[in-house]
Amino acid sequence: MTETSSNGVVAYDVADGIAWVRFNRPDKRNAMSPTLNRDMMEVLDLLEFREDVGVLVLSGEGAAWTAGMDLKEYFRETEALGLAGTRKAQRESYGWWRRLRWYQKPTIAMVNGWCFGGGYGPLFACDLAFAAEEATFGLSEINWGILPGGGATKVAVELMPFRKAMYHAMMGENIDGATAAEWGLVNEAVPLETLRARVIEVANVLLKKNPVALKATKDAVRRVSVMSYDDAEDYLVRAQEAANSYDSDGRKEGIRQFIDEKSYKPGLGAYDK
Ligand code: ACO
Repeated sequence: MTETSSNGVVAYDVADGIAWVRFNRPDKRNAMSPTLNRDMMEVLDLLEFREDVGVLVLSGEGAAWTAGMDLKEYFRETEALGLAGTRKAQRESYGWWRRLRWYQKPTIAMVNGWCFGGGYGPLFACDLAFAAEEATFGLSEINWGILPGGGATKVAVELMPFRKAMYHAMMGENIDGATAAEWGLVNEAVPLETLRARVIEVANVLLKKNPVALKATKDAVRRVSVMSYDDAEDYLVRAQEAANSYDSDGRKEGIRQFIDEKSYKPGLGAYDK
């Protein structure tokens, strides 16, 4: 059953372990207004530790994933409130993207359509990303006279090779889903009609893994990218030891089922948790 956030601009439902969260302003191409940013934090809060949620998928209602920040409500109207208004709006948007980057459950961006500018924040915040070949990606900031802020430039540089990132940021030209996959913005692009099925397939693989190990893994991939080799080595030892305190038996069971029971092979799939 579909539910909506306090102001109706985020829709969600939970089925078979997957929380389907959707930007829900299709008439405004799912542009992120301050209200939407607040509602998204509310929905993330609500779903994060629910027992029946193993994976969160973020997509958009209608033709857009998100057309980026709402130029009227996020920029013009908050700027009219002075610096305090601007900073509050920034805290709210960056806040839920940060929350999503470190979310307890694995997250998948399912990019069904337009994805512009500020949309790169939540795109990067999701652990994995799958796009429709028909989707359109763009850093359109330069087209209306600003730099790609709100983390968008950082996302471009994190995900794309330098020349691609520079071209993408400076030219204001759009790319389709297939090109976004080729350039590293998303994992894969598939035809829109098969996008949901592909995402379910990926989510079902994740649902079979040890959830403590998954959270430790996704955090590790983000953390080690800015560490020296020695720091990363140390962090990873400590992260596994910390994970052991939440899940003392998982890995022992994984070894037992392979070595003693011979019921599966870790090289070919996950143990039965
Ligand atoms: N901010 C505010 N309103 C928006 C936004 C936005 N980012 N995107 C779309 N809308 C509104 C339109 O103003 C329009 O409102 P109206 O019906 O009241 O006139 C409605 O959504 C529908 O938009 P259209 O432009 O009519 O839809 P169309 O399908 O023809 O075009 C497109 C879609 C290409 C996404 C176009 O709306 C667009 O260019 N949007 C802006 C994209 C953008 O540059 N976003 C900002 C990125 S930079 C940043 O996020 C910091």
